[in-house]
Amino acid sequence: MNTTFSEIPEAYKITSILHQTTYLVDGELKQWKGETAEVYSTISSTKDYKPTLLGTIPQLGEKEALSALDSACLAYDKGQGLWPTMKVVDRIACMEKFVEQMKTKREEVVKLLMWEIGKNLADSEKEFDRTVDYIYDTIEAYKEIDRSSAKFEKNSGVYAHIRRGPLGVVLCLGPYNYPLNETFTLLIPALIMGNPVIFKPAKLGVLLISPLLEAFQSSFPKGVVNIVYGRGRTLATPIMQSGKIDVLALIGNSKSANALQAQHPKGNRLRMVLGLEAKNPAIVLPDADLDLAVDECIAGSLSFNGQRCTALKVLYVHESIVVEFNRRFSYKVDQLKFGNPWESGATLTPLPESDKPGYIQELIDDALGKKAKVLNKKGGETSENFIFPAVLYPVTKDMRVFKEEQFGPVVPIMSFQDIEEPLDDMAESNYGQQVSLFGKNIHTLSPLIDTLVNLVCRVNLNSSCQRGPDVYPFTGRKDSAFSTLSVHDALRSFSIRTFVASKDNDYNNAILKELLEKKTSNFISTDYIL
Ligand code: G3H
Repeated sequence: MNTTFSEIPEAYKITSILHQTTYLVDGELKQWKGETAEVYSTISSTKDYKPTLLGTIPQLGEKEALSALDSACLAYDKGQGLWPTMKVVDRIACMEKFVEQMKTKREEVVKLLMWEIGKNLADSEKEFDRTVDYIYDTIEAYKEIDRSSAKFEKNSGVYAHIRRGPLGVVLCLGPYNYPLNETFTLLIPALIMGNPVIFKPAKLGVLLISPLLEAFQSSFPKGVVNIVYGRGRTLATPIMQSGKIDVLALIGNSKSANALQAQHPKGNRLRMVLGLEAKNPAIVLPDADLDLAVDECIAGSLSFNGQRCTALKVLYVHESIVVEFNRRFSYKVDQLKFGNPWESGATLTPLPESDKPGYIQELIDDALGKKAKVLNKKGGETSENFIFPAVLYPVTKDMRVFKEEQFGPVVPIMSFQDIEEPLDDMAESNYGQQVSLFGKNIHTLSPLIDTLVNLVCRVNLNSSCQRGPDVYPFTGRKDSAFSTLSVHDALRSFSIRTFVASKDNDYNNAILKELLEKKTSNFISTDYIL
């Protein structure tokens, strides 16, 4: 399963090492001369397998973390900063400037996405394009919100001009599986609502931010975007302990979120926008269209090798159809092509975490030791950077693959007799993001849908689970999320309603009239942004 250097298309070869020697604080790309860390791809560039060195990144320390914090606090300047008080239309102009520059970096970012996290070409391009669309959609959604607040209300003799204002300084941490898209779905709405941000790129997918640094620097006022590199614990701990963070925006693991939250000394000050892990199940009912269910369950469980928070991580199949489902499912899994990200038709690609194949093997071994079997011929075949997806059946609740979020290529299947079995498991689970429900009869589906919507936050009828389209709410119950992210909801999550109230009398009304006519306040405005 190795690809030789000569097989790598010219456009995707690594011809130079990217040394990221700067970080962005206080509007300056500051030179770093201290410790650095090497960034490797698990994809080999040579005939004999060897991870490829892609570049180096700074390993900043506590001092630099706190300077980024100071920079963001100064940009907020107790609510008086240029950015939080800026006219909406001017903040939008900064964002438009940024996205225009970002679009010119597509090729570089896509190439780095493939090398750094092993995402295939089509999905890497999609990640970039989807992020650009997200930014434009966010701008439109903000205009819409702004238009609906361009007015005064009057109740019980009190006029009110109600808008959404920023929350303060945001610490933003994204995940490695969508190091561009998911990070930006936090960063962009946080910024546009007037919050300065400290952003630390994910543990993998770091270098792909480098082509965008200058765009960040030149598009926003100084201190509004601060980008730091290094170990999460070293950087985020002192930042949180300062008590100066107003919003923790994190897509990743609930353990990290809990640990960071616990560091903050003022719990009620800290707002949280979190997208965390999940164990989304598929439930396949006896009357399901089996081919459709098989195809959707394959896409759901194995797109990007199962490294998606929305991935289907356990399949419940009714006992009356489980044998046939397993046969078709295992066959189709074995037809999936493994290859390097740029190879045509490669749906399975190298795993970016070098210890992932070993971890997946542990889950398989544990299941085999408890009487499960690997149903597909290729299941568990291992190379230096990959383990072929194993379809495991019958999986039971005492197995690690049932309890842990595998976040990788292994598919556990369980059979059920009574629908209460998967429903009970879901109710007991620590997670509550989404479910896929396969079936046709509305009399069976109706009560199930009515229950499932109360256990998770999205019921996907006859289709796999997914986040998109991004205009729809993305959230979860229990340990799966905190706050809601959609283009529109994210703008709400990163802001708070704040307003100016005045009693209806001649004295106040004359002041309001003058404020509106002279346009001296950026907040009080009935201008309609088109
Ligand atoms: O990692 C979780 C992502 O939000 C999944 O997004 O469903 O578009 O792959 P997706």
